[in-house]
Amino acid sequence: MPPVNHMPRVLALGLLLIALPGAIAAQRDAAPRPKVLIIGTGGTISGVQDAPGTLGGYRAGALTTEQIVASVPSLVNFAQIETEQFSNVASTMITPDQWVALARRIDGVLRNRRDLAGVVVTHGTDRLEETAFFLYLTIRSEKPVVVVGAQRPATGISPDGPINLLSAVRTAAAPQSLGKGVLVVMDDRIISAREARKLYPRAGGFSSGEMGMLGVVSGGGPEYFFAPTRRRGSASEFDLDGVTSLPTVELTFAYPGGTGPRAEHKPAGIVVSATGLTCTESGAFQVLARAGTIVVQVFPSGEHVESSDREPEPVRPPPPRNDSTPNFARRMCPGLDSAFAVAPWVPNIGVQHLTPAKARILLMLALTRTRELREIQRIFDSY
Ligand code: SIN
Repeated sequence: MPPVNHMPRVLALGLLLIALPGAIAAQRDAAPRPKVLIIGTGGTISGVQDAPGTLGGYRAGALTTEQIVASVPSLVNFAQIETEQFSNVASTMITPDQWVALARRIDGVLRNRRDLAGVVVTHGTDRLEETAFFLYLTIRSEKPVVVVGAQRPATGISPDGPINLLSAVRTAAAPQSLGKGVLVVMDDRIISAREARKLYPRAGGFSSGEMGMLGVVSGGGPEYFFAPTRRRGSASEFDLDGVTSLPTVELTFAYPGGTGPRAEHKPAGIVVSATGLTCTESGAFQVLARAGTIVVQVFPSGEHVESSDREPEPVRPPPPRNDSTPNFARRMCPGLDSAFAVAPWVPNIGVQHLTPAKARILLMLALTRTRELREIQRIFDSY
């Protein structure tokens, strides 16, 4: 029997092995990219430096969303991009009414456009964490919504907007981002919108506090290590249909020598950033609470976790003026009018790891549904 020549087969196999990666890459390149809608609201990410390439002043919200997208040509390698201009302002101009309009727009577009993989919102960083948390609470979709900004304007020295936008689009386009709730992507960190905070106005200045970030955007795309567990997305009870405006909730600070809010002004709710209250502050908040204002006391750091099994403190009536029963408050606050002296603090609602600004947003939404303390406590324990 003549010897079998294996050479042609070996050659064919070699050629196949050489050609295969190229063929796989060609097939991958031919596959349609996920569609991502970028909604621009303004901020430094669309800002223009007065003297380009300097560290001087700049105008936030100057370039259109289309212009900032055009400055990142590699976006098309990861997604088919559509753009929409919601506003083009510095984020300090964004109002609660605009939160409602933006959330409705995104919720609607994700409901009606099954072809969209996700949405990116470009936003000024000053108020980014507040808008992002509002969207986190009210967008009732499992698809990724990523909020992104920049700390250096598009025409300044080494702008961070282009890389942030690229990372945000990659995150919004990635199937592994489904169900993670609204995300903030800054400096390749993927942070839950519940936890994102601006610490300082420089690149790297966004943090997630002690609870940590969810993942990073690496060379290969978004890599998750953790997932949020609190109520969000399709499980949210905050339906904005029929909500025309949000209840007024004020935000105030307690401080040594503080006297608290004036009683003649009675908002629906008030959040006080405090580790504790002075006697006079305590009295002022008790007066407000008795008049029907929901008072929520939050640690300034946002790191405190109030035990969720506590009952909300009832709003107690003032003790009779001639009541001589010694109580803790009277011992602590001997100079205080006894009408106030029920307790030297007003811990109506326990808050779990939220900054005061975010507790205010949750209270605004809670008050669209209930004024009952126990229900409000349930909401604070769930989201
Ligand atoms: C703004 O918040 O609109 C200005 C600041 C920034 O985007 O970093």
